[in-house]
Amino acid sequence: MSSDTPDPALFDKIVNLSKRRGFVFQSAEIYGGFRSTYDYGPLGVLLLRNVKDAWWRSMVQLRHDVVGLDASILSPPQVWQASGHLANFSDPLVDCTNCNARHRLDKLEDPDTCPTCGETGTFTEARDFNLMFKTQAGPVAETAADVYLRPETAQGMFINFANVLTTSRKKPPFGIAQIGKSFRNEITPGNFVFRTREFEQMEMEFFVPPSESTEWYEYWCEQRMNWYLDLGMDPNKIRLRAHDDDELSHYSSGTSDVEYLFPWGWDELEGIANRGDYDLTQHAEHSGEKLDFFDQANNERYTPHVIEPAAGATRTAMAFLMAAYDEETVNDDTRTVLRLDARLAPYKVAVLPLSKKDTLTPTAHEIFDIVKGRWMADYDETQSIGKRYARQDEVGTPYCVTVDFETLDDRAVTVRERDTRAQDRVSIDQLESYLADRLD
Ligand code: GAP
Repeated sequence: MSSDTPDPALFDKIVNLSKRRGFVFQSAEIYGGFRSTYDYGPLGVLLLRNVKDAWWRSMVQLRHDVVGLDASILSPPQVWQASGHLANFSDPLVDCTNCNARHRLDKLEDPDTCPTCGETGTFTEARDFNLMFKTQAGPVAETAADVYLRPETAQGMFINFANVLTTSRKKPPFGIAQIGKSFRNEITPGNFVFRTREFEQMEMEFFVPPSESTEWYEYWCEQRMNWYLDLGMDPNKIRLRAHDDDELSHYSSGTSDVEYLFPWGWDELEGIANRGDYDLTQHAEHSGEKLDFFDQANNERYTPHVIEPAAGATRTAMAFLMAAYDEETVNDDTRTVLRLDARLAPYKVAVLPLSKKDTLTPTAHEIFDIVKGRWMADYDETQSIGKRYARQDEVGTPYCVTVDFETLDDRAVTVRERDTRAQDRVSIDQLESYLADRLD
């Protein structure tokens, strides 16, 4: 398979691996499963956390001009009135009168033919279906107030603009970053965790002087592409696609999507948008608060423009899984290996005593104690060593450390590298620095 064509067979392999090895489970599976909702298992939670940590490190920790935020998921209708979500955040929904299937009109190849039953001319009139989840705060009674689960993390940053500006002593250009859950009542969720009703986003709002917005937009497009490439994405499977004019939101003067070549074709991982002063102006008008900036150096007051790189954490974690998946033939056997960048790998190290014999256990525990404080490590003493290597390859563990009977004499262990399967004999005294040279 050439690297720049989609690989449809990869989809089932990733879904199977996710279930079999504990990356992702269907939610409420013991009750028959809750459609389009997923739980991240012991390995999935580590992968997802590593994706979010890599984003936070690059977007917040390594920068002097971006600060973090963790805003509430529940918010009152005023926020969504001002943002335009109550009026506009909807998809056109059609029902097929022949088979009762529901579809998003804008996603149909032929707007008159139902892809479920193949009948033509059976759709109802399109209705706008608002994607926000609504609930009530307080006991459900006459006094209960409507509230919404946020459909994006972005509004938390806009409504806290003045709070952050005054408390952090930042001034434009500066950004506010946030990672968290968002909720959309998608009409057609699907493709595993690609489109779900509950998902995680990694968003940053970068507030800039209006005259600098184009420059910063281009800067962030480049930065964000580099982030994926630096973490090991194949350059043939990732691209930046500028939106055509008819795709742009009415307030956006430029949007580009970072797209990945999924098994079903190119699809979005992240949108980078030049949002102008739309959001701050809307919230200033609706709240009556001043959401602008006084630039003392130039003696002028202005409403900053916003550049927004908005990525999906859950979607990106799946893309990294797909990008890392590899099968190779070794001695007539197929070896499955996840060639994940070590920063994303769920476990960095696995400690494997050659046998379960009591004589090896104390030393194996000693090795686990050496590595566990610094790296997420697995400890596995069951099955043959070959099977245990295969298990670790399949979940992307970069280094396996084997404790054998010789270890008891020479105080050295065998370290096996995932991609090359090369083995080194390393003295226990040197193990931490050996791994640090390769992992940190
Ligand atoms: N604040 C702008 C915003 O939310 P978006 O393009 O609607 O923009 C940003 O969402 C990213 O969030 C998307 O590129 C995608 O990665 C992720 N995302 C959006 N809807 C999703 C869904 N239903 N399931 C999983 N990820 C989703």
